[in-house]
Amino acid sequence: MIIAVDGPAASGKGTLATGLARHYGLPHLDTGLLYRAVGLAVATYMDSTMFEAAAIAAARALDATQLGDIEALTSAETGVLASKVAVIADVRKALFDFQRQFAQNPVGAVLDGRDIGTVICPDADVKLFIRADSKARMERRARQLEKRGAVVDRYALYHQIEERDARDMLNPHGGFYQAQDAHLLDTTLLDIEAALRAAIAIVDRTM
Ligand code: C5P
Repeated sequence: MIIAVDGPAASGKGTLATGLARHYGLPHLDTGLLYRAVGLAVATYMDSTMFEAAAIAAARALDATQLGDIEALTSAETGVLASKVAVIADVRKALFDFQRQFAQNPVGAVLDGRDIGTVICPDADVKLFIRADSKARMERRARQLEKRGAVVDRYALYHQIEERDARDMLNPHGGFYQAQDAHLLDTTLLDIEAALRAAIAIVDRTM
C-alpha cells in the first residue's frame, strides 16, 4: 500500500504521515528533508551565480540515507533555501530515483511532500491533499519552534510561509497541485488526533 500525503508548508502533513505510517506499519519518507539537505549544502552560494550549478551538484551527490543535523534541516530558514533549490528541474530529477525506490518497498510506504501524488507516485493507492489556513499553519510552526526553545517572530514567520507557498505553487517543475484522485483534508480546525482520525478514515474507506 502506498499512501501519498501532499500539502503546503506547516500544514501538518509530516505529523499526519508519521501517524499513518505508525498506524499501518509502513516505512515513511519526509521528502522535504531531501530538498532541505540540498538547500543547506548550498547556503553559502545563495546569492552567487554558482547557486544553480552548486545545487544540482549537491543533489546528485546527496546520500539520502544520511541527511545529518535534523535541527538545522528543519529550521524555517532552511525551508526557504529548500524552496529555492526545488525550482531547479535538475535538482528534482536527481532526487527522483531515491523517492521512487523508497516507494517500491515491498510492504508499501507513506511519502509526504508536494508532488508525491502527481509526479513521484501517480499510482499511489491513497492520495491525501492537506490544506490549512496560513495563519493556523504559522501558529502551529511557531509553537513547534518555541518548544525547541527558539524565540519566534510571528510576523516574519507568516511572511516566510507565504513566500514559500507562492514559490512552491508557481514552481513550473513542482507538480504541486491536488491530483484528480486525491482526497482533500482541511486541518485548519482539527488538532493532531482529529486530523489523524480523519486521515485513517479516508484510507480505510479507500482501501
Ligand atoms: O515539506 P517541507 O516544508 O519540509 O519542504 C521544504 C521545501 O522543499 C518546500 O517548500 C518545497 O519547496 C520543497 N519540496 C518540494 N517537493 C517535495 C517536498 C518538498 O518541492 N516533494
